[in-house]
Amino acid sequence: MSRSETILFASAFDDAVAWRNAILAELPGAAFQVYPEVRDPAAITTAIVWRPPLGFFAPLTGLRLVVNLGAGVDSLLGRGDLPDVPIVRMSDPGMVSMMTSYVLFSVIRHAREIDSFEEAQRRREWRYVHPRPLSSVKVGVLGLGELGAAAATALAGLGFDVHGWSRRGKEVPGVACSHGMEALDALLGAVEILVIMLPLTPKTRGLVSAERLRRMRPGAKLINVARGPVVDEDALIAALEGGHLGGATLDVFVTEPLPVTSPLWAMPNVLITPHLASITVPEEAARDVAESIRRVARGAPPLHLVDLRRGY
Ligand SMILES: NC(=O)c1ccc[n+]([C@@H]2O[C@H](COP(=O)([O-])OP(=O)(O)OC[C@H]3O[C@@H](n4cnc5c(N)ncnc54)[C@H](OP(=O)(O)O)[C@@H]3O)[C@@H](O)[C@H]2O)c1
Repeated sequence: MSRSETILFASAFDDAVAWRNAILAELPGAAFQVYPEVRDPAAITTAIVWRPPLGFFAPLTGLRLVVNLGAGVDSLLGRGDLPDVPIVRMSDPGMVSMMTSYVLFSVIRHAREIDSFEEAQRRREWRYVHPRPLSSVKVGVLGLGELGAAAATALAGLGFDVHGWSRRGKEVPGVACSHGMEALDALLGAVEILVIMLPLTPKTRGLVSAERLRRMRPGAKLINVARGPVVDEDALIAALEGGHLGGATLDVFVTEPLPVTSPLWAMPNVLITPHLASITVPEEAARDVAESIRRVARGAPPLHLVDLRRGY
């Protein structure tokens, strides 16, 4: 790697030291700077970012590549000051397995009614409920991308009856796949556990609307590991309060951190986690990031390129 490769890292969430070590192990000749300490902004060739501040990109006039430190690029695309260079997303085995484990945990917790046994234990009650076979539990997965397809495959591998939905037709072994809006309504009415794994784009914002929540089976459970605004959060709260939905596991919210005033905090049938279903593991992600940097330096397309028109 030529010495002219200069990387700027900007994230309030990710470990800059771990990233520096992981990237320099792959690209020993590169310079690595951590925002806001920027020497000669025009010399920066790659920006590795998570939600950089507005105005961040303006002085980076020599930029060739933007690396988003996550799978979802909604926060970058929504801001309107992006330079005209390729934008790539994270994709690493660590992120996929972490997300799959979260989805398996949440689906199993609902399917096996673990929350009800936790409550019974607090009452010192031996509450035997005969378990149902997993094959009788229909699970829907909205979004069959890198994370959604892996989670759907793992659920199917455990024996769940898995129904997946995406924008274009897809084949995922062991998963009944469908696409298109008519298929969405059919899926919502069929499944008893719904897992949302869609990117946030203009088309998916509010997709799980009040109307679509009403189409879900009475008592159904909802798991959102994608982005809060994909679901109408007020309608979700009403559906949980009114008893139409039986419970939810929520890792993402319209406003994060979730305000202390949100009624979701106090709902006994809701499990809240603070947007950590999956994270990028620098040691596992750096290889592909470095390969993208090398490719762009020689004029080739990078790995895991985001399609700006479709928004993911
Ligand atoms: N909570 C967390 O910690 C966390 C961590 C990582 C990621 N995430 C979220 O998870 C999301 C999914 O990640 P991923 O890597 O699986 O994304 P991805 O590889 O970009 O896949 C997106 C999937 O959604 C489908 N899709 C997109 N727009 C659609 C629409 N309008 N109608 C129907 N289907 C649509 C795509 O359909 P096609 O297959 O037809 O293109 C694809 O199957 C990310 O965007 C991010 O927001 C959350």
